[in-house]
Amino acid sequence: MKKVCICFLGLLLASLAAPAFAGVLPFDTSEYAARRARLMAQIPDGVAVIWGSVTGPQNNEFTYFCGVQVPRAILIIDGIRKENLLFYTTNENYLKGEGLGVELARDPKAATGVERYYPVEQFSAVLSRLAAQTRVIYTPFKAEAAFAESVSFNEWDGRPTRELQFVKLLKERFPQVEVRDCSETIWEIRRIKTPAEIEVLRKAGRIGVQAMIEVMKAGRPGQYEYELSSLFEYVCKREGCRNLAFDVIISSAENHPYLHYAQHNRKLVDGDFLVFDAGPEFQDYDVDITISFPINGKFSPRQREIYEACNEVSKACLSLYKPGISGYEIGEKVKEMLKEKGYDLTKDAFTRLRFFKEGGLTHHVGLATHDAGGADLVYGAPLKPGQVFASDVFAVFAGENLGVRVENTILVTETGCENLTPGIPREISEIEALMKTGRAAQPGKK
Ligand code: GLY
Ligand code: MN
Repeated sequence: MKKVCICFLGLLLASLAAPAFAGVLPFDTSEYAARRARLMAQIPDGVAVIWGSVTGPQNNEFTYFCGVQVPRAILIIDGIRKENLLFYTTNENYLKGEGLGVELARDPKAATGVERYYPVEQFSAVLSRLAAQTRVIYTPFKAEAAFAESVSFNEWDGRPTRELQFVKLLKERFPQVEVRDCSETIWEIRRIKTPAEIEVLRKAGRIGVQAMIEVMKAGRPGQYEYELSSLFEYVCKREGCRNLAFDVIISSAENHPYLHYAQHNRKLVDGDFLVFDAGPEFQDYDVDITISFPINGKFSPRQREIYEACNEVSKACLSLYKPGISGYEIGEKVKEMLKEKGYDLTKDAFTRLRFFKEGGLTHHVGLATHDAGGADLVYGAPLKPGQVFASDVFAVFAGENLGVRVENTILVTETGCENLTPGIPREISEIEALMKTGRAAQPGKK
């Protein structure tokens, strides 16, 4: 998921003008320095140890703080001496073999912007020295993926996570030191996106929207789901993405109850209604989008009823997101707005909608689709500027082979919100018109 982004244009420009190493990391080194400084400010009494992944792709925590994709790298953020120490292998051939920039070998400090570089073999010696001078060692106790399943919870396994094994060894080897969890501190930082991250998320959003529009234009009865999932992936990759945020989810007919159905194996027939949930990953950042549409390009009365309800709730939510408001407050206000518009909220098209009462708040979005920090969004906490989350409203009508979902990726701004996935035809008339255009462009196809 998190692979190095070597910007060749950046390298070319860098060869013409200082700084010499621009482009080795996805962001300028000053961006990573600012992120590390935010954690450093919160650990004035200790040092934080952050491990990179054993093999590629790099984990998100490590990617966030230094962007270096070299396997088995380690970062120490020293809150006492106010400096950062980075450990990784700088064998040029090894880095070339991994497809990583050789600049990381030639001058690690210049390439990464981290003040102190050490070969990874020196980590234990350096940590022992620091432990002798430090009262607290911070490290993330929790596995960084928000919904990571751990072997710890398997009754036939029970091994500690990598994080907890490190905690155990720290306590054994440095009994005089207090070992503290900094997962929540890191997630708190990661939940507020920086301007540089927002720019990348906007670009990811634009690509995702373009791909969704092409899917809607191309969709017609007789296709297999894999034709549409491949088209989405093709457009994202054509526009510069290395990966998708997650396997494209297509639910249709009897598969609507399976919210993460990604088999792509149904042949679509006249009358099918699709929930198409997907997102690109652009320069390590994900967006999350869902569209719902009839494969034949024309909503039936029932499809129209359930889609309109879902879309009205979604639109009302988007009009209300702003700093300070909670999901539950949004949910209550949306009810009032829809009643004023004359909707009957006792109809099943509304009562079956999930995340209506939470104002559509589901999960943070960023380096992961379900980004660090988990479920704090949906439990009534006020929104904060800089948060990026999925606004998602959906319902399943299993008995009718129907489902519906409207999902956008949203940024909370200082005064309201910005839809990072704007411009998708969401009104029924817009969807039908777009699909008609698609058919007109390919008259030979059914
Ligand atoms: N959009 C897919 C999910 O959030 O699970
Ligand atoms: Mn989602």
